[in-house]
Amino acid sequence: MRVKDKVVVITGAASGIGRATAILFAREGAIIHISDIDEAGLRETRDLIKKGKDNVFARRLDVTKFDDVKKAIDDVYKKHGRIDVLIVNAGVVRVGQIEDFPEEDYDLLINVNLKGTFFTCKAAVPYFKKQKSGTIITLASVAAHIGQNNHANYCSTKAGVLGFTKALALDMAPYNVRVNSVSPGATDTPMLRSDVTKEAKQRGISFEDVKKEFEGQGVMGRWAQAEEIAKGILFLATDDASYMTGADLRLDGGWTAR
Ligand SMILES: NC(=O)c1ccc[n+]([C@@H]2O[C@H](COP(=O)([O-])OP(=O)(O)OC[C@H]3O[C@@H](n4cnc5c(N)ncnc54)[C@H](O)[C@@H]3O)[C@@H](O)[C@H]2O)c1
Repeated sequence: MRVKDKVVVITGAASGIGRATAILFAREGAIIHISDIDEAGLRETRDLIKKGKDNVFARRLDVTKFDDVKKAIDDVYKKHGRIDVLIVNAGVVRVGQIEDFPEEDYDLLINVNLKGTFFTCKAAVPYFKKQKSGTIITLASVAAHIGQNNHANYCSTKAGVLGFTKALALDMAPYNVRVNSVSPGATDTPMLRSDVTKEAKQRGISFEDVKKEFEGQGVMGRWAQAEEIAKGILFLATDDASYMTGADLRLDGGWTAR
């Protein structure tokens, strides 16, 4: 119960890693504020959290809309007088060769992965500075560290998240706030499954063939479960990581060890 009664904000919690993280933090006794653009998925996450249900607050939120993000963060602070952990998780993936890559897909990647990360932190940082405590965790990716075929634009956003996180860690250190990222490898979530489906379609091969390629990238020969990434996020949120800031926790099954 290392995060018991901590006030935790998680974006993109209707699915995958965000959902698994919400469930884990709720089980650990945290007070959690979950949000997502997908309202139905968010309700499902809320229903999946059986224990500590009174301590779960859900709201629809599009992280690309700054006024809405600010209102959501302001409301959390007004309610509890503090924010202990901010998990900036909402993200999207779009794949394709550069010459065929639609501008609207590029804008979506930038708006959600980069601007959404900036907006979420922009809204919360004044409170972290005021309270002089807390921790911020962003979602980078294995794609921030290595190139992936068909992923040039996704890679660029995740490398951007990595740079943003390191620089923000410097700005927040004088305020006793740690800022770190996690870099998951291939993790079995709806995002990865849609990514593999699109890539298989574009390359004219089967889902299973692309899945095997992804599995072969890590040295463990399998995808991660979202719960395995959530455990890394939990570690960064606790005092067990008290000397970690500006760091990236790679949970990639050995992908970047090759
Ligand atoms: N699954 C992987 O293999 C993998 C690997 C590395 C990094 N990541 C990163 O982990 C994070 C979570 O990914 P996931 O695999 O759980 O994906 P997911 O698609 O299962 O979940 C992402 C969530 O973000 C939400 N979202 C999208 N746009 C939003 C917006 N504008 N405002 C608010 N919410 C929005 C989606 O509705 C969804 O619920 C992402 O940042 C992703 O880039 C995932």
